[in-house]
Amino acid sequence: MTMVANYSSAESRATGTLTVLGLETSCDETAASVVRLSPNGEATVLSSVVHSQIDDHAAYGGVVPEIAARSHVEMIDGVTRRAMAEAGLGYGALDGVAATAGPGLVGGVMVGLSFGKAVALARDLPLMAVNHLEGHAVSARLGARVCYPFLLLLASGGHCQLLEVRGIGDMTRLGTTIDDAAGEAFDKIAKAMGLGYPGGPALERLAQAGDGSRFDLPRALLGRKDCDFSFSGLKTAASRLAQACETHADRADLADAVQTAIARQLGERSERAMKAYAERHDARLFVVAGGVAANATVRSTLETAATKNGFAFLAPPMAYCTDNAAMIALAGAERLRKGLTSDLDVAARPRWPLDERRALDDPTHKAGRKGAKA
Ligand code: KG4
Ligand code: ZN
Repeated sequence: MTMVANYSSAESRATGTLTVLGLETSCDETAASVVRLSPNGEATVLSSVVHSQIDDHAAYGGVVPEIAARSHVEMIDGVTRRAMAEAGLGYGALDGVAATAGPGLVGGVMVGLSFGKAVALARDLPLMAVNHLEGHAVSARLGARVCYPFLLLLASGGHCQLLEVRGIGDMTRLGTTIDDAAGEAFDKIAKAMGLGYPGGPALERLAQAGDGSRFDLPRALLGRKDCDFSFSGLKTAASRLAQACETHADRADLADAVQTAIARQLGERSERAMKAYAERHDARLFVVAGGVAANATVRSTLETAATKNGFAFLAPPMAYCTDNAAMIALAGAERLRKGLTSDLDVAARPRWPLDERRALDDPTHKAGRKGAKA
């Protein structure tokens, strides 16, 4: 069966350009965005509105799912209205609606997905249920002309994976974390150091004044030849050292050591993946995405690793590293172009691996009641 995009707006019928509204509610950001995808694959962000719930969760030291879901219900309408107004468009100019359908906190995912279904139903538009990780995977395409295929390190609060990205819905997982995600390690260690939530940016700020060379933090999985990650040993060691820190200077030194250790592991595993990837592809592009890609030390370590291995290096603009809806709109537009639309009865999924076959055949986390994890 040949699948084609549903050209429903006047603009798309005339030029082949697709305009998609994206919605993101999988964690603690309520976000809406309008993105245009030209026939030659170029993306233009017409608007990107992000309402962060950080203040709602700060007192608890982490995201409280029930509070997050309730806040999404209150915010989604206003955030979407703003995104449409800032794009200067009415609903008649849209060709489709994309909403994150997982993985994430399912109460929040259901809010954005149901809202997206309502818009699709009311305006007779196609719906694209988007995997949040697929959004991160295409996010670098929001800031630069990036062609497929590329090697991707996706490092966020919930995930740490190396992926060969050949196109939308066509990705192979080369490695994943066997315990914590990189952002989770930043957050948990920052919490142990009393830095509050979210920990990654706070730890990066503190590290600027530090010199971590006096700390000898453990290096994980050194004997293994694969591209997997592990951060739990580092987390335990750093949390113990945090108890012994007496001065602000001590804590700044530890923050620097932790940041360097996380960046180093990301770099080492990425280099392994680059070597395997280079055997299969002539075009060598390495992309980092996800919240941890906002960290300057992580970026520079990865850039050095890429250059050393003959890869071009790219990271998304800062605003599209952490959660946003522009990446969901773009993934949705690319899906729409390929005819990959969803039925209105599509379900929210708390777990939804990008490379589902790999996650089931070779699980690093047991597939629990909610399905395979990474
Ligand atoms: O991609 P993201 O916004 O949400 C998820 O999908 O998880 O990533 C959030 C994660 C958090 O763990 C946060 O601490 C981390 O990204 N993060 C950072 C920085 N900014 C965000 N980690 C280190 N340095 C940063 N500057
Ligand atoms: Zn994310």
